Amino acid sequence: MIKKLLLLVFASLLIASCTTSEQSNDSTSKDKEITLYTHRHYDTDKEIIAKFEKDTGIKVNVVKANADELIQKMESEGAQSPADLLISVDAGRLVRAKEKGLLQATDSEVLKKTVPENLRDADNQWFALTKRARIIAYDKEKVKAEDLSTYEALTDEKWKGKILIRPSSNIYNQSLLASIIANTDKEKAKTWAEGITKNMARTPKGNDRDQVKAVLAGEGELAIINTYYLGKLLNSEDENEVKAGKSVSIFFPNQDDRGTHINVSGIGIAKNAPNREAAVKFIEYLAGIEAQEKFAEANYEYPVNPEAKVSELLKSWGEFKEDKLALTKLGELNKDAVIIFDEVKWDKKGE
Ligand code: FE2
Repeated sequence: MIKKLLLLVFASLLIASCTTSEQSNDSTSKDKEITLYTHRHYDTDKEIIAKFEKDTGIKVNVVKANADELIQKMESEGAQSPADLLISVDAGRLVRAKEKGLLQATDSEVLKKTVPENLRDADNQWFALTKRARIIAYDKEKVKAEDLSTYEALTDEKWKGKILIRPSSNIYNQSLLASIIANTDKEKAKTWAEGITKNMARTPKGNDRDQVKAVLAGEGELAIINTYYLGKLLNSEDENEVKAGKSVSIFFPNQDDRGTHINVSGIGIAKNAPNREAAVKFIEYLAGIEAQEKFAEANYEYPVNPEAKVSELLKSWGEFKEDKLALTKLGELNKDAVIIFDEVKWDKKGE
């Protein structure tokens, strides 16, 4: 009897909660404000947001912090979170936000058309906005493009003491290794990580830009970095950074097989978004050609919308074949990658 009563109470609570959420969904159509959690801090983003506000009459409240902080913030705020949208870098982080139950699906036909399938979540909980490739920046004076081919070939003994790459705690390296696991297997991925560790010019330290500066300083000959960092160096106000950027050329690995590893920055709708409908409109706007070209160029990245044009600098680097691996794999295999880095003592090189 008590059980039945409890069941009844539970059922009516469930109905009540469903009704409330439907009601709140209804009210979203009237909402004229959205809250965006983002790590991005470019003037171009401000311009794009201002244009969106003008075109739609929807105001965008921007909350800035670094990508991991934003995920933590959403987690601790829970159902009370004011966030409608989360912009984050690296598919690994977007997968993490999804796994933590911080995002929700959207069924936008526009997004299905503008964002290629491998660049969005299988359940449509997040969508890539821009692409970046993890490439080899090589010393123009000491290395020839003909000497390079694949990520795997970097484990060759001829590169001993010449490779510069940041620590394994960095998600870009974790995602690169996850892509190697996905494309080969754990065993081969471990052999790769071991080979790279053996060939490192120094104990991994610094960010991607620091690796290119180390090439300029003669510490090594090859730096593994994301494309946009080369754009940042070349456009820097710091003379030494410009010099570093000019000292290297760009090489897209694995063009004769799976293609160069790419990653993305992307956006998802928050699980408890108070203004869901307006949030979807905002994503659709960012995936449109005009916003795509500006949004991508602000950080020297590639647009995801195939109709959008790349910037002049990126055009000068030439077209390349991308690894079309579903980016969700990078998140799924993240833990395996972290374990492998640990096993091969990636960060302890030379200690
Ligand atoms: Fe970055």
